Amino acid sequence: MLSRETRDLISEVERMRVSVRDGPAVFHPGAFWDDLIDSNVAMLELAGIENFKRTIANNYYNWMVRSVHDPQIQRAFANWLRRPSLRPLRARLHGGVQGIRTLDRTERYDFTRFQSWKYRTFVATVWDTARRFDRHGLTDRLSEPPQGNPLPVTVSGHAISQDLANSIIEFSFVDAARPLRDGDRVAELGAGYGRLADVFLKACGVVYCVFDIPPALAVAQWYLTQVHGAERVVAFDPDATFDGIVDRLTPGVVAFFTPAQLELFPDGWFDVTQTISTLPEMPRQQADAYLGLLAAKSRGVVYLKQWKRWCNELDQVELCEADYDLGAEWELAARREDPIQPQFFNQVWRRLPA
Ligand SMILES: C[S@@+](CC[C@H](N)C(=O)[O-])C[C@H]1O[C@@H](n2cnc3c(N)ncnc32)[C@H](O)[C@@H]1O
Repeated sequence: MLSRETRDLISEVERMRVSVRDGPAVFHPGAFWDDLIDSNVAMLELAGIENFKRTIANNYYNWMVRSVHDPQIQRAFANWLRRPSLRPLRARLHGGVQGIRTLDRTERYDFTRFQSWKYRTFVATVWDTARRFDRHGLTDRLSEPPQGNPLPVTVSGHAISQDLANSIIEFSFVDAARPLRDGDRVAELGAGYGRLADVFLKACGVVYCVFDIPPALAVAQWYLTQVHGAERVVAFDPDATFDGIVDRLTPGVVAFFTPAQLELFPDGWFDVTQTISTLPEMPRQQADAYLGLLAAKSRGVVYLKQWKRWCNELDQVELCEADYDLGAEWELAARREDPIQPQFFNQVWRRLPA
């Protein structure tokens, strides 16, 4: 039996779906995401929004890292060898892990003891890497929010997670290239359930605007409302106008929009625009349109974290790092291989003075 919260969420997903469907075709989900949307909604119907961190969150970022040959496991081990510490061995995963759903299995499943050990050791190693990049004490201050029923990993009693660690690393990379300040305006395209928005909002008093398609848009709205409180949320409004909402976009607020609504914002309104693990999953024309919009709407920096090379067979496109060029008004201010997922690059582009 679905909870009332899940039923309300599914209605919100439908309302958002109509809005995306009736909007410009260039923003419609491509073939890859068309399939995923149905699987994600089915997971929400089966397990409820209350458990989304064990189901659809695994389709957004949080990796199950099952094989010891997984490049992330190998990188984590290499990171640990470089700075060995006992901390990962002190990580705990409390009470076993039940009710996992991933796209490669039709049934829900539980972790075996070995999977639990592997997962918690991996997460603790990723957390150690986050501590190295963290210049603002976020790894001491922040813990994984309980909403969504995350896998309960702790180190010395502190609730940690892979998504939180990656988000702190991502925040730190942007902040090192362009220090983030209270009042900065940040836009994220394709935010999943809002893991990075959560960290930005806790790290400083930014205005954070999420642009996404449902169900992610509805899940992020539900999640960030639970975590930050309704008074800090500007909910999705299909009829929003820029003049109608701009006065509500104040520091500390998070606002929700469909992708077409990014066009409502004046060029250069944001200080930071960013997108993570998104563009290769779209048709080429859509990825190009979004890259253009992210560049046009930012007066400061554009942060990209994407596959170095990835073939999206459903949309018949293969993007590689060289395809992400923002043009003559931009310089690549910082670039590295992702410290956790070596198949991703991280780039911060900075707008050149006019
Ligand atoms: C792999 S998930 C990554 C989520 C998030 N960036 C993260 O790292 O946790 C891809 C995201 O792209 C979004 N997306 C897919 N197609 C889109 C489209 N046509 N327009 C905007 N967002 C889209 C999905 O809804 C989802 O939030």
